[in-house]
Amino acid sequence: MKQTLEIIARRRSLRRYDPTPLSVEEKNAILDAARSAPTAGNMMLYTILEITDQAIKDRLAVTCDNQPFIATAPLVLIFLADYQRWWDTWVIGKAEERARALGLNPRRPEEGDLVLAACDALIAAQNAVIAAESLGIGSCYIGDILENYETHCELLNLPPYAAPICMLCFGRPPADEPQRRQQPRLPREAVVQQNRYRRIQPEDVDALYQAHTERYYPDGNYPLQAENYGQVLYLRKFTADFSREMSRSVRAMLARWREGEPG
Ligand SMILES: Cc1cc2nc3c(=O)[nH]c(=O)nc-3n(C[C@H](O)[C@H](O)[C@H](O)COP(=O)(O)O)c2cc1C
Repeated sequence: MKQTLEIIARRRSLRRYDPTPLSVEEKNAILDAARSAPTAGNMMLYTILEITDQAIKDRLAVTCDNQPFIATAPLVLIFLADYQRWWDTWVIGKAEERARALGLNPRRPEEGDLVLAACDALIAAQNAVIAAESLGIGSCYIGDILENYETHCELLNLPPYAAPICMLCFGRPPADEPQRRQQPRLPREAVVQQNRYRRIQPEDVDALYQAHTERYYPDGNYPLQAENYGQVLYLRKFTADFSREMSRSVRAMLARWREGEPG
């Protein structure tokens, strides 16, 4: 128990990797930990796409907001929200026809199914992260796999009901990787509330971001001509081109998911 908590507390995102490949045993341990994760209705609404082709890794390093370290990771996994497996199973097994014969309304995967499958995919991914960490293997999520939906569909041969939700890079830390402190987190009281949601008030803001401000801007000089920490995040992340592309791309993902396959 203590060991698990220590592993969770010790984890940091790792963006530099020793080039040595992971052993088959290590890889299988990580993949089996992912497969053991809780899953809605025990349906396993995800597929884990292991990217072994260096040319695809190189391309992902560009399409995922130009992050070259992706191409250097010994293990790259993409977690897809996947209803395609069930949908194909139902088509093969004539489930729609059976439902009609029983007087029931057939339906296709909808928005709720996508969100549930995304939950499944992310929970499996986080199991993989913790399993890897326990083996001394670091990892980093790549949220930018949500961008460039059409390009990723082409690159990865994705049908409509298999949508990329997150990507993970894995590898051992290189020998010269410095010991890093944990990134600051918001205070427990801010993140954990009781019973009914409480919105922050103007007087809460300074305490909320104090740890971040002290760590990143101890002299009070904010970048991007921002006047406070909230403005930094708004200017650097929220209004950045990658955020706008992510929203466009997810809209395209949702539209294709809603539309399904022709016929
Ligand atoms: C959904 C998600 C998407 C992320 N996307 C990226 C990414 O594209 N590139 C990157 O370098 N780090 C990415 N990260 C890692 C975060 O930057 C990192 O978790 C955060 O800064 C906290 O640092 P820590 O993981 O070392 O505690 C992502 C993390 C999550 C959970």
